[in-house]
Amino acid sequence: MPYSRGAACGGRAVVLERSPLRSARAIRASMLIDSHCHLEHRAFPEGPDAVLDRARAADVRACVVVGVSGLAAAEAALEICNRRSDVVITAGVHPHDAAEFGGAIGDLERVFGDDRVVAVGEVGLDFHYDYSPREIQRRVFRESIALARRLRRPLVIHSRAAADETIELLEQEGAREVGGVIHCFSEDRAFAERALDLGFDLSFSGIVTFKNARPIHEVAVWAPRDRILVETDSPYLAPLPLRGKRCEPAYVVHTAQRVADLRGMSLEELAALTTANACRRFGPRLAQAAGVG
Ligand code: NI
Repeated sequence: MPYSRGAACGGRAVVLERSPLRSARAIRASMLIDSHCHLEHRAFPEGPDAVLDRARAADVRACVVVGVSGLAAAEAALEICNRRSDVVITAGVHPHDAAEFGGAIGDLERVFGDDRVVAVGEVGLDFHYDYSPREIQRRVFRESIALARRLRRPLVIHSRAAADETIELLEQEGAREVGGVIHCFSEDRAFAERALDLGFDLSFSGIVTFKNARPIHEVAVWAPRDRILVETDSPYLAPLPLRGKRCEPAYVVHTAQRVADLRGMSLEELAALTTANACRRFGPRLAQAAGVG
């Protein structure tokens, strides 16, 4: 029940209302992937297909839907893949839910028999909210890294107020072997350098559009072009100019536009680049979902 405690990804406030898509549609990019979104019914009572149809209308070719936490959440996410071809999913136990679902990580293994389950995540540490005791978060994170190594799937990492320990655990547990993505990147360049060294790409969310996010802007300018992704982390963190609205995958174009502006690239170039990077990271099933495989 990740949403019952207000947040799958950090407890940030979200306004549950229908958001106008006019401005998302006004900007066209040919080839975007939302590399991290949550589509649970609680946030989207109209159902995931309506949300995903709006994304396609805004030129989002494919979405990586995050199936947390536990087996039932992963199976619910897989149900979306059974209905449509433009989605792949992840499965894991979010640090918020470590106490509730951490005892059953092994149960997740069976869903990874389906190659549309492209990554283990989101997993990691959240010492800002501390919804689960830190010792349990650490244990579940270690077990998640071991699972990813066993399954040879990349990791999708959530890290909040736990930067040093996140990197240390990734190092200690051999996460380099599978690599992955630092989702909703919101740290500084020093963290980014360590993550990149460990084989983790950086995924920028709507936070990069916020004016006060200077350390993140710096990383968006500097990061290697083959190591950056874009995401919405819906329903949270809607990018400017939609900040405060319920976020959805169609809005990833605003985040992509901001990263493109920061890097002095066209939106189309940034879209092609981040789509190629996401497909390289998450594999051929995502490329197939996006129609570029
Ligand atoms: Ni998330």
